[in-house]
This record gives sequence, C-alpha cells and structure tokens, in this order.
Amino acid sequence: MKSTPRLAVLGSGKGSNFVALQEAILAGRLNAKIALVVSDLPDALILTRAKDFGLPTAILPATTFKTKLSPEGEIALVELLREHTIDWVILAGYMRVVKDPLLNTFPERIINIHPSLLPAFKGLHAWEQALAAGVQETGCTVHFVNKEIDGGKIIAQQRVPILPGDTPATLHARIQEAEHELYPAALAKVFQG
Ligand code: GRF
Repeated sequence: MKSTPRLAVLGSGKGSNFVALQEAILAGRLNAKIALVVSDLPDALILTRAKDFGLPTAILPATTFKTKLSPEGEIALVELLREHTIDWVILAGYMRVVKDPLLNTFPERIINIHPSLLPAFKGLHAWEQALAAGVQETGCTVHFVNKEIDGGKIIAQQRVPILPGDTPATLHARIQEAEHELYPAALAKVFQG
C-alpha cells in the first residue's frame, strides 16, 4: 500500500476549501495528511480553522509585494515545506503568484482550485467575470500549477448553473459548494495515481 501523502495547504482567506479537505480526510474519503497549513496573512481565518483541528500552522514573513513573495520569502517557504517533509502543495485561496524555487522544487506537485471553468475567466473574481459575460453556466476547476497563472493542466471540473437574479455573492456561494465536493474528490484520484 502507498504511504499517506503529506500535504501543505496554503491559503490567504477564510479556508472553507481547507475545511472541506480536512473533513474529507477525517471521513476517510481522502487518504492524505495535512501536515502544515501556511498563510501569508497572520490574521487569515484559515489559520484559526487549522488550529481548531489541531493542525500545525505557519505564517510567511511579511513582504512589500502584494501579489507575490519576496525571493527570500519564496526560499524560506521551500525550506519550511522541506522541514515538514511535504509531498504535495495544495493551494486553497492563496493570493500570491507561485514562482521558482517553489515551482521547480515541487514539479507537478502543486495543485490549485479556481472558481471558473478554465480556460474561461482566469484571474481574480472569476464569478463576477462570468456574470458580466452573461453566460448561463460557470463552475470550478482543479488544476496543476505552472508558470502561467491559472494555466496549468486541468485535473477535474464541475459545472455550476447561473440562475436568474444571481448576484456575485449568490453565485460565488454556489460555486464554493461545488468546490467543496470537487477538491477532495479530485485530490483522491490524483493521489491514487
Ligand atoms: C475559492 O473560491 C477558490 O476557488 C479561490 O479562492 C477561494 C478560496 O476560498 N482560489 P476559501 O478560502 O477556501 O473559502
């Protein structure tokens, strides 16, 4: 039997996808161990939620850039992940662009979830982009992370209808429900190989 994959979950926000993953692990639907939860923001709710589950947490050093780590910060993150013998890096609302050396230390081992049916609506507030475009459905995508933002190989997708009267908030909530089903199921398949 394969050993249990050790995950680091990286997030900057409320951590609802992290909770969905941890609950899937506890329910036996996902064979993995979350060995570390990392945030770039010291007061991100994801850290509180991780501590509530009794999981180890870490905060990345502050940086002057908003959308990426400093080169030293990226090196420190890689060292942290090595110290915790991490196999897979799981992005769950992590709001920084991932660069080398993180990318080349974990080739095909960094996974993200994005709130659209990629390649449509890359980037920020994808649900608002979908509403503005007037499409009838959108969804969410689990994909490998590479140098191109939201451009890595697609692992799995789930469709979500856009309903009359949807606001950005109602649509985002419906997409997040789909994310919480899709992410654990997609990771379970990846880890089975
Ligand atoms: C999710 O909608 C995900 O698609 C995007 O960031 C959001 C994170 O939400 N990448 P949460 O922090 O997991 O609740």
